Amino acid sequence: MAQETWDAVDDYFEGALIGPDPVLAEALERSDKAGLPQIAVTASQGKLLHLMVKMAGARRILEVGTLGGYSAIWLARGLPEGGSLLSLEVEPKHAEVARTNLEAAGLADKTQVRVGRGVDSLAALAEEGAEPFDFVFIDADKPSNAQYVAGALLLSHPGTVIVIDNVVREGKVIETDGSNAAVEGVRKVVDLIAREPRLTGTSIQTVGAKGYDGFIVALVTG
Ligand code: SAH
Ligand code: DHB
Ligand code: MG
Repeated sequence: MAQETWDAVDDYFEGALIGPDPVLAEALERSDKAGLPQIAVTASQGKLLHLMVKMAGARRILEVGTLGGYSAIWLARGLPEGGSLLSLEVEPKHAEVARTNLEAAGLADKTQVRVGRGVDSLAALAEEGAEPFDFVFIDADKPSNAQYVAGALLLSHPGTVIVIDNVVREGKVIETDGSNAAVEGVRKVVDLIAREPRLTGTSIQTVGAKGYDGFIVALVTG
């Protein structure tokens, strides 16, 4: 089984359980036209994030790595009345496209995109005494993963859910030669979750339209 099958199976489930979504299609089209890389989560992964937000009853969502706002739309659609999403993005052009997409999705009033390096924005939020977040999605530069989780922990409460994307990278996560900065970033965050008594987590390998990868789900317990 390989990519062709994974694509067809994703198409099947997407057709059966998600269906056409002009707003999301338009968001991807606008992102493509602006020259953004095609590295957003898939529709099935986006819907999983959406369902997790609802299962957690999250009212305040933090995302690190906005790109064109595709995952942000899925996440923010899971918010209750009065909920909010803040997404951190280093590239002003990505943030601009995302704001346009979030506006077109009717989510402008509950979403905000903050431009800056993720680590700096997280430190600024802690400094500003931001209220804790209920759900955190980490999907930016992979070498900084551990810093993102450390920063998110300072903005969490017992019960906060933290999801980290792209932790398997075609199985490269088990390569220990230190030659791949993204893999090093994943292994560091895995060590942090293993060591940190306030965190418990697990990892799930995935295949689909975006290849062989996986994500970590962690829960803040204290
Ligand atoms: N979550 C998006 C995909 C994000 S792709 C989705 O699924 O729709 C990763 C994003 O992280 C890119 O937009 C990239 O510009 C951003 N990024 C890279 N380095 C960053 C940093 N240091 N701080 C914040 N964002 C960063
Ligand atoms: C890359 C980043 C992502 O967030 C992703 O989902 C896939 C690939 C990348 O930087 O290559
Ligand atoms: Mg990703």
